[in-house]
Amino acid sequence: MASCSSKASLHVMFYFLFAIYFLSFEHCCVDANSTLIVHNATTVSSKTIPIPDTFLGVFVEEINHACAGGLWAELVRNKGFEVRGPNNTLNVWSIIGNESFISVSINDSSCFERNKAALQMEVHCNDKNPCPSGGVGISNPGYWGMNIEQGKRYKVVYHIKSEGEEGDFNFQLSFTGVGVIEVSSNITQVPEDGKWRKVETEVEAKATNHYSSLQITTSKGGSYLFDQISVMPLDTYMGHGFRKDLFQMVADLKPKFMRFPGGTYVEGYHLQNKYQWKDTIGAWEERPGHNNDIWNYWSDDGIGYLEYLQLAEDLGALPIWVFNAGFSRNEQINPSDLGPYVQDALDGIEFAKGSPESKWGSVRAGLGHPKPFDLRYVAIGNEDCEFSNYQANYLKIHDAIRSAYPDIKLISNCDASVTPLKHPADLFDFHTYTTSKDLFSMSTQFDRTARSGPKAFVSEFAVWRKDAGNGSLLAAVAEAAFLIGLEKNSDIVDMVAYAPLFSNINDRKWIPDAIVFDSYQMYGTPSYWVQKLFVESSGATFLPSTLNTTSSNQLIASAISWKDSTENKNYIRIKVVNFGRGTETIDISIDGFPVGQQFGCTKTVLTSDNVMDENSFAQPTKVVPQTSSAVNVESKIQAILSPFSVTSFDFLIL
Ligand SMILES: *[C@@H]1O[C@H](CO)[C@@H](O)[C@H](O)[C@H]1NC(C)=O
Ligand SMILES: *[C@@H]1O[C@H](CO)[C@@H](O)[C@H](O)[C@H]1NC(C)=O
Ligand SMILES: *[C@@H]1O[C@H](CO)[C@@H](O)[C@H](O)[C@H]1NC(C)=O
Ligand SMILES: *[C@@H]1O[C@H](CO)[C@@H](O)[C@H](O)[C@H]1NC(C)=O
Ligand SMILES: *[C@@H]1O[C@H](CO)[C@@H](O)[C@H](O)[C@H]1NC(C)=O
Ligand SMILES: *[C@@H]1O[C@H](CO)[C@@H](O)[C@H](O)[C@H]1NC(C)=O
Ligand SMILES: *[C@@H]1O[C@H](CO)[C@@H](O)[C@H](O)[C@H]1NC(C)=O
Ligand SMILES: *[C@@H]1O[C@H](CO)[C@@H](O)[C@H](O)[C@H]1NC(C)=O
Repeated sequence: MASCSSKASLHVMFYFLFAIYFLSFEHCCVDANSTLIVHNATTVSSKTIPIPDTFLGVFVEEINHACAGGLWAELVRNKGFEVRGPNNTLNVWSIIGNESFISVSINDSSCFERNKAALQMEVHCNDKNPCPSGGVGISNPGYWGMNIEQGKRYKVVYHIKSEGEEGDFNFQLSFTGVGVIEVSSNITQVPEDGKWRKVETEVEAKATNHYSSLQITTSKGGSYLFDQISVMPLDTYMGHGFRKDLFQMVADLKPKFMRFPGGTYVEGYHLQNKYQWKDTIGAWEERPGHNNDIWNYWSDDGIGYLEYLQLAEDLGALPIWVFNAGFSRNEQINPSDLGPYVQDALDGIEFAKGSPESKWGSVRAGLGHPKPFDLRYVAIGNEDCEFSNYQANYLKIHDAIRSAYPDIKLISNCDASVTPLKHPADLFDFHTYTTSKDLFSMSTQFDRTARSGPKAFVSEFAVWRKDAGNGSLLAAVAEAAFLIGLEKNSDIVDMVAYAPLFSNINDRKWIPDAIVFDSYQMYGTPSYWVQKLFVESSGATFLPSTLNTTSSNQLIASAISWKDSTENKNYIRIKVVNFGRGTETIDISIDGFPVGQQFGCTKTVLTSDNVMDENSFAQPTKVVPQTSSAVNVESKIQAILSPFSVTSFDFLIL
C-alpha cells in the first residue's frame, strides 16, 4: 500500500482504515451545497499571491509564568530572596525543622550590588543543645514543584558567607522525594574572613520527583548569609537554558518571527516596573530582576534580552523587539523627556546587531555572542496608540532609528486596517481578542485595507472569554477562519501570531493560551493545533479560488501551493473551515490538471464531538488533528465537513 503522505507513520496507517469512509473522493453520492474551485493551480496569475516568508510567527511574553517557571529552566523561585514577606520574612521559601533552633530574615547585605537582598540564617545548635535529627534549614518549592528526573544532571550554585567563628561547614542540599543528593560535602571550611564564597557543583538525580523541593539543611550552629541559589538542569536546549519540551512545542510551529518580550509586560502597570533591557543582561547573579506588576509576579529575568535574541536564533525566527516608547498603563513620558528612552532603544539595537567593535556590540560579544543577531524589526511600544503623546514619541524614536539604522523596519502601534496612519511606518500592529462569531467575520478585516500603506503585523489574536473557555474547539475553528482571511490578504498582511503562547497552569492570568504546562507536562490547546495547520503557509503561494456556498457565514476556504524542501515535494493544500453546527458537503475541484490525473492525498481534520471540548493534562490529545491518506485521488473530489471543523487536504503534485 503506497501512502501519499510524506509523513507516513503508524498513526497514518491506522487512519487509513477510515479513509475509505472519510475520503469518498471518487463517487459523488449527494448534491453538495457548496463548491470550491481552485483556479489555474499550476500557473502563476495576477491573482496568485506570494505569501510572505515571515507569515506565521510567535509572540513570547512574560505572562502566566511563561518564562520564569516555564521556558527558562531555572528551578529555584525567588533565588535571590528579592521578594520578601512582611517584616523581612521569607517568601516562597520556608523553614525546615524546629524554629527554636533556627531563625531567618532577609536583609540587604548581599555582595551583589544590584540585588542587595540576602538571607540571614542563625542556627542555634551546639554541643549542649544539639539540632533535632535531620537538622534545620530552608526549603524552596520552585515554581509549583521542581521537576527532578532520574539520570538527569543539575548544576547547583549558591553564594554563602559565614558570620560566626571559623570551622566546619556542612550544609547538605537535597531534593525531596528523590533521596539526599550531597552537594557541599567537599566544602569543609568557610573562613571567617567576611568574604562571600560561590559554591558550585553538579549532581545526578537517582530518582524522579516531578514536584520536588530543594532543601538546605545543617546540624551545626552558626550564623550565615545566603544569596543567589540556583538549580539549573544541564539538559536544556543546546545548553542555552530553555526547557527542551516547551522549546520543541514552539519549534514545531516553525515560527518565522518571534515578537518579545511583551505585550503590556514591556510597559508595566507603572513605569518604574517597565522592562529595562540593560538590567537583564550579564551574569544571572547580578541581574536585579524586576516586579512584573502588570502580571503580578517577580521576574528574575533569567530570560534576559540576550536570551530572547538567542531563543529567536535557536528557533530560526527573526527577532522582533518591542521596547518601551515612554508609556506604562498609567503614565506617559512627555516627548521633551524622551531622550533616555530613545537612547535605550538605539543601544538595544546596537547590542543586538552592532559589530563586536561597537560599544554595545562589544558587550554582546563579551557575553559570548560575537556574531550580530539578525534584528530587522522593532516595535515602538505596545498598544500605546491611544495615549496623547504617542504620535510625538513615536516620531522621535522613529526618526532616530531611521537615521541610525535605515534598514530596520519600524512597527507602529496604531491600527491602519481601516484608516491610514498619521505617521510613517513600515508595519502597523493589530491586536484582537473577541468572540468566535466576530473573529470569523473578521476574516474580511483586511479586504479593504489600503494597499499603498504599511503592512499589517497581526501580532496578537485569539477568541477569548465564554466561547474559548480554557481553550475550546469553537475558539480554534474561528481562529482558523481568521487565518484563512489573513492568507487571502497576505499581500498586505506580513506576519501573524496567536497570543498568549504559554501558560503555566498554576498561574493562568490570561486564558486561553496555545501551550499549557506545569513543572514537567504540557499540551497544546486546539488553538495551538490550528496554528500547526498554517505552518506551511509561510513562503507558500496563495492560489485564487472561488467558494460558492449558501453557508457563506459558516464556510471559508483557501488554497496554497507549498514545497516540502526536505523531501523536495510540491503540494497543493486546501483548507476549509466549517463554522456551522451542520455537516456540509463540498465539491472541490482543482483546475489546471489533465483529466484523469491522480494524486496522493492526505486529509487532516481538527474537530470533536462537542464544540466546547478542550485538551487537558488528563486528555492532552482529545482535540488534535487526525490524519488520513489515500492514493489515486482525482482533482475533483467531494468532501464531507464535520460541524465545527477545520479540514486540510494536501495534494501531492510531485
Ligand atoms: C447542505 O447540505 C447538507 C446535506 O448535504 C444539508 O444537511 C444542509 O442543510 C445543507 N446546508 C445548507 C445551508 O443548505
Ligand atoms: C486562468 O489562467 C488563464 C490564462 O493565464 C487566464 O486567462 C484566466 O483569467 C485565469 N483564471 C483565473 C480565474 O484566474
Ligand atoms: C510586622 O512587625 C510589626 C512591628 O513589629 C508588627 O506590628 C506587625 O504585626 C508585623 N506584621 C506581620 C504581618 O507580621
Ligand atoms: C522545639 O524545640 C523546643 C526546644 O527543644 C521544644 O520545647 C519544642 O517542643 C519543640 N517544638 C516542636 C514542635 O517540636
Ligand atoms: C544584616 O546582616 C548583616 C550581616 O549578617 C548583619 O550584620 C546585620 O545586623 C543585619 N541587619 C539587620 C537589620 O538585621
Ligand atoms: C572531594 O574531595 C576529594 C579530595 O580532595 C576528591 O578526591 C573528590 O573527587 C571530591 N569529590 C567531589 C564530588 O568533588
Ligand atoms: C477551566 O479550568 C478551570 C480550572 O483550571 C476549571 O475550573 C474550569 O471549569 C475550566 N473551564 C472550562 C470551561 O472547562
Ligand atoms: C452557485 O451555486 C448555485 C447553487 O448550486 C448555482 O445555481 C450557481 O450557478 C453557482 N454559481 C456559480 C458562480 O457557480
